[in-house]
Amino acid sequence: MRAVDLKRRGFSIAEMRNLARAALPRMVFDFADGAAEDERTLRRNEAAFDGIELLPRPLQGAAERDLSITLFGQRLSMPVIVGPTGLSGLFWPGGERSTALAAAAAGTAFCLSHGSVCTLEDLAACGASPRWMQVFIYTDRGFTRELAERARAAGYDALVLTIDNQLLGNRERDLRNGFTIPPRFGPAAIAGMALKAGWLWRMRKELRRITFGNYVRPGETAELTTLAARMSALLDPSMSWADVDELRRIWSGPLILKGVLHPAEAREALARGVDAVVVSNHGGRQLDGAPATVDALPPIVDAVGGRMPILLDGGVRRGVDVVRALALGAQACLIGRPQLWGLAVAGEAGVRHVLEIYRREIDRVMGLCGVSRIAAIGPDLLFPPTRPGQPPATAQSAEQHGLLMR
Ligand SMILES: Cc1cc2nc3c(=O)[nH]c(=O)nc-3n(C[C@H](O)[C@H](O)[C@H](O)COP(=O)(O)O)c2cc1C
Repeated sequence: MRAVDLKRRGFSIAEMRNLARAALPRMVFDFADGAAEDERTLRRNEAAFDGIELLPRPLQGAAERDLSITLFGQRLSMPVIVGPTGLSGLFWPGGERSTALAAAAAGTAFCLSHGSVCTLEDLAACGASPRWMQVFIYTDRGFTRELAERARAAGYDALVLTIDNQLLGNRERDLRNGFTIPPRFGPAAIAGMALKAGWLWRMRKELRRITFGNYVRPGETAELTTLAARMSALLDPSMSWADVDELRRIWSGPLILKGVLHPAEAREALARGVDAVVVSNHGGRQLDGAPATVDALPPIVDAVGGRMPILLDGGVRRGVDVVRALALGAQACLIGRPQLWGLAVAGEAGVRHVLEIYRREIDRVMGLCGVSRIAAIGPDLLFPPTRPGQPPATAQSAEQHGLLMR
């Protein structure tokens, strides 16, 4: 899509989703857009933001707004980070590279999924930074260790351990559409694709090459069906804190747990030397029945009391959602599906555009609220200051919050 059309038609994240739906074959769109079972948690993630109101103080004066934060000693231009999504290369040729470059151009961090099409070394070669690497605990613990060591050798800045993918979620849209890995397109799908000629043309050479790059061993097959089977057999529901300890021992940089919803797990993570948690339910793709992440956030903020950064993802579709999460005590938000919508619409430029939408919206919300810096976003921006049925949103004052960010 031409830059001018992108600007004119993709004016919000919701519009980018519509454009992605028009660009992608149904089964590819649904692979990203869908979630587990009845998709209640997916819907709840977005809906829960609606219940959080902000109380502006325009006379504080916020002519200039600084959206930057510092996380693990690195400055990010805004509190939005590109989270890990597997098979980004199915949405645009070289999808992971395009997304990482877009994040770097926007001055923020990018997290590579374990299930990227390219290898973590290939991604690192594009030089995008800060870059984080996401891993699982595998039945073969040696493989988890190997990925962490490869990430260190390739200069990744942080390691993200996802803990909510120990079994595969039951994604019924994929079942309905017959979506398989590797994608196989039956007659109905092929007929539908005639209308998605742009994607088909772009991907004509790529489709044969779609694989899980990090799982290919030298001299072994890169055939995706074999790798996918190997990958799901490697997932391990018996993972425990001992595995977190082991990862902590071998990874000296920032270690982030992704998929934390219970305050006791956040507290335990802190005690075990984890550097940050991502309050996440995997975008509703795993346990349908998990709470909305923004509802799970306040008890976690109270549990760790400003002693470790808390990140959040799930349903963040507006700049105001980011400000809401920050007012409740998060330090930054991650995005999942929105980056894929941007990628599907215009590759690297599309992801840059998505990040610009968030930046513009956060900036506008801060201006309207009378807030000129991120550290000043705190519980006093919430209306009512104490939400019904909940303790005060966070024990932190805005200034304590500021301490964390430095
Ligand atoms: C297509 C797709 C693939 C994903 N793959 C991974 C993955 O490999 N590892 C991971 O930790 N999370 C993965 N996620 C979850 C995201 O990192 C994130 O938690 C979730 O999408 C956030 O919700 P949002 O999509 O509402 O922004 C994936 C999400 C999507 C949509």
